[in-house]
Amino acid sequence: MSAYRGPELLTADHDTARFDCGDETLNEWLRRRAPRNQREGASRTWVVTHDDRVVAFYASSTAVIARTEATGRAARSQPDPLPAMLLGRLAVDHGHQGKAYAHEALMEHVTMATASRLGVRAPSTGVIRSGDLEAIVVTRYDRAIRGGRLMRIHQEDLCQASGLHPDYRYQRDGGPSPTEAASLLRRVVGASGAAAAVDQLRDLLVLQWLVVHADAHAKNFSILLAGGNRALAPLYDACTWLPYRRRTPIPKLRTAMKIGSDYRISTADRAEALIRLADALGLGKLATARRAEELAAVLPDALHQTAASLPAADQARPIVADYITEQAQRARRCEQIAETAARRAAPRRAEPAPGLARD
Ligand SMILES: Nc1ncnc2c1ncn2[C@@H]1O[C@H](COP(=O)(O)OP(=O)(O)O)[C@@H](O)[C@H]1O
Ligand SMILES: [Mg+2]
Repeated sequence: MSAYRGPELLTADHDTARFDCGDETLNEWLRRRAPRNQREGASRTWVVTHDDRVVAFYASSTAVIARTEATGRAARSQPDPLPAMLLGRLAVDHGHQGKAYAHEALMEHVTMATASRLGVRAPSTGVIRSGDLEAIVVTRYDRAIRGGRLMRIHQEDLCQASGLHPDYRYQRDGGPSPTEAASLLRRVVGASGAAAAVDQLRDLLVLQWLVVHADAHAKNFSILLAGGNRALAPLYDACTWLPYRRRTPIPKLRTAMKIGSDYRISTADRAEALIRLADALGLGKLATARRAEELAAVLPDALHQTAASLPAADQARPIVADYITEQAQRARRCEQIAETAARRAAPRRAEPAPGLARD
């Protein structure tokens, strides 16, 4: 198999004639406009080649952003306007699309269906195909039939509910921490459902740790508001990273919300991290460790059942077999981590009572 080369600056030697992304405007832009823009200095085009022909490109040009439009972090100690790079046109030849995250829709479905089997609330999902296109279909949880009428259930993600701009969806960018998410839930959901909602939040965070779903940021958690009822929405937009570990090794991945003392999976993979998570959520350490242990223990079987429910062609895909093997290993490791956490969190033998009389 020949390798990809680049990105490198487009030259007259590059073969762009056979490039086809499916959009004739972009194909033409690469062939005619890109070389001209480059000569005139309007934009530069960077290409990736495969078998000596261009299979992907993007164009860059210099730009500026007014300080008032930039986020605080980007604007700090920068001139006004801020110098920026604008990524203009970009396209991938259709024979090379979807290689990086192959079968992401299928893996998202597998992740969601497995979560559901574990007892973590998740809408039912499926995969549909049309030609080369693979897409996930997800049952909406923000609609309900009441008294024969279709009702809309209002949902606010945790950024909206906290009055935060979507730029702050990751905790490391100023988004809500597990502590803030839990206290928001306790406030919004109200006494009757708060405990269940925070337990559900814990399950979602633990699940994301187990399957390594690194994108569980504040816009991927929502609160549902139906009349006086408020609840945490089920899991959505969750996909395991294990099949894509060759792109970024798992220990280097960062979680969107802190599990433990920082964002790295390598730090989250410690008994200490589960204990901190319990503390952060205001939940019992032992109960949290035991719940993580339980979810880890049943995960491999649940995944096998999900795989068995897939159409034969999907069951036979190498990515599915690879994920099953990798997830089983990770689940075993996580179970041990949770077991250690549970041992540490278990109450020690009662101290002998002090011999002082009380009045
Ligand atoms: N099953 C669902 N029912 C109702 N609303 C949903 C559902 N799944 C997602 N949403 C809403 O759609 C938004 C985008 O969906 P998401 O799966 O997060 O896609 P993206 O990958 O674009 O972030 C979510 O933030 C949520 O508000
Ligand atoms: Mg999302």
